[in-house]
Amino acid sequence: MNERYAKITGWGKYVPARVLTNADLAKMVDTSDEWITTRTGIKERHIRTEQDTTSSMSVEAAKKALEVAGITAQDLDLIIICTSSPDYLLPSVASQVQHLLGAKCGAFTLVAGCSGWVYGLVTASQFITAGAYNRVLVVGVEIISFALDFTDRTTCVLFGDAAAATIIEVSEEPGGVLSYELGSDGSGAMALYVPDGGVVAPLSQKTLDERRQFIRMDGQEVFKFAVRTLAASLKHTIYQAGLTPDDIDLFIPHQANARIIEAAARQMRVPVEKFFMNLDRYGNTSAASVPLAMVEAIEEGRLKDGDLVAMCAFGAGLTWASAVLRMGSGEVSPAHSLFSVGRARYLARKTSDTVLDTAQSALLPLYAFLYQRRKKK
Ligand code: UT7
Repeated sequence: MNERYAKITGWGKYVPARVLTNADLAKMVDTSDEWITTRTGIKERHIRTEQDTTSSMSVEAAKKALEVAGITAQDLDLIIICTSSPDYLLPSVASQVQHLLGAKCGAFTLVAGCSGWVYGLVTASQFITAGAYNRVLVVGVEIISFALDFTDRTTCVLFGDAAAATIIEVSEEPGGVLSYELGSDGSGAMALYVPDGGVVAPLSQKTLDERRQFIRMDGQEVFKFAVRTLAASLKHTIYQAGLTPDDIDLFIPHQANARIIEAAARQMRVPVEKFFMNLDRYGNTSAASVPLAMVEAIEEGRLKDGDLVAMCAFGAGLTWASAVLRMGSGEVSPAHSLFSVGRARYLARKTSDTVLDTAQSALLPLYAFLYQRRKKK
C-alpha cells in the first residue's frame, strides 16, 4: 500500500469590512493607542457587520479555498468548523456551512479555543493518513466580538473577528503534516472563560446585570502560560519531525500578543523576523488566528512550495496545539537520514537546547523571587 500524506492544497480568508482602531476604542473605554500598541502590538481589528455570521464568514473563506485547490464542495469528504462563537448553540454551525456550500459529507464543529484550527488540521490529517477520507475542509472562524464586553478595557482591546479556510488533501508524495502536539490543561479553565450561558449557569437577569455573558480573562495568568507553552511546544514538535528550529523557514504563532511571540523567539534563539505577525491589523482572532496568518504569509510570498513551517496556537481550556508542515510537494528533510550532516546538526542543537532549558527551569524560582522583590520596592 502506498504511503498517504495530508497536505494543505487550498486556502482563503474572509475579514469583515468594519475596522475598529485603537483610537476608536479610546473613545469607548479608558485606554490609549500607546498602551495597546506597547503592551500588545495591536493597532486595529475587524468587527463583524450586520450581514456577517459565523456560517456566512466560513462560507466566504471556504469558497476561496476550494477555488485555490481546484475542487468543488461536492468533492469534500468532511467539513470541520473550528470556533467558539457558533451562530447557534444548536445546530452545529458546521452543518449550516455544509448546507450553504452544497456539500454532501459529514460536518462537525470543533471547540478548542484559540487552538481550534490546529486541532482541526491534525484531526483532518488523521482521517486522511488513515485512508478514510481524501479531501477535508477545515475552517478557523470567530465572531468573538459577540462575547466581548466593550466596557472592559482588559479584554475588548485584544480580540477581532475573522475566518480562514483550508483544504487538506491526500498525497502520495512525502510532505504535509510531519508532526504535531495537542495539549490541554483544564486546571486553568477559569483563566479565560464565559461565566454564563452554559449548563452550569443558564442565562438569567443576573447574567445581564453583571455582564456575565462576556469573556473574562486573567490576562497575566494566560500570558505566563502562553510564554511557557509557545517555545516549549514548538521545539517539541520540531524535534519530533527530526528537525531543528534552524531548519524552519517560517514560524506561524498564535497572534495574541507581540510580546509573547518575541519572548518565544528569544527562548528558541530564532530571529523574531522568522515569526510571522499580522496581529497589528487583526488583533487576536482566536481560532482564525493561525490559519489567517498562514493565508497572509502565502499571499505575501513568505511561504512557498517546499518551505517548512512550524505553527503553534494556545488559548482557552487551557489548550495548545502545534504542527510542523512541509508546504506543497517538497521532500522530507535530510535530517531524517541516520548519518547525514543534517542529522549531526540536529543532535547538536537538540542537546544544547536541552541543556539551556534545564538551566532556565532551574533559575525560574530565582527570577520569580527577584521580580517579587522589585515589585515590593
Ligand atoms: O488567545 C489567548 C488569549 N489571551 C492572551 O494571550 C492574553 C495574554 N495576556 C496578555 O496579553 C497581557 O496580560 C494583557 C495584554 C492582557 C495585559 O498586559 P499586561 O502587561 O499583563 O498588563 P496588566 O494586566 O499587568 O495591567 C497593567 C495595568 C493595570 O493597571 P494597574 O493595576 O497597574 O493600575 C491594568 O488595569 O494596565 C491596565 N490596563 C489597561 N490600561 C489601559 C489593562 N488593560 C488596559 C487597557 N488600557 N486596555
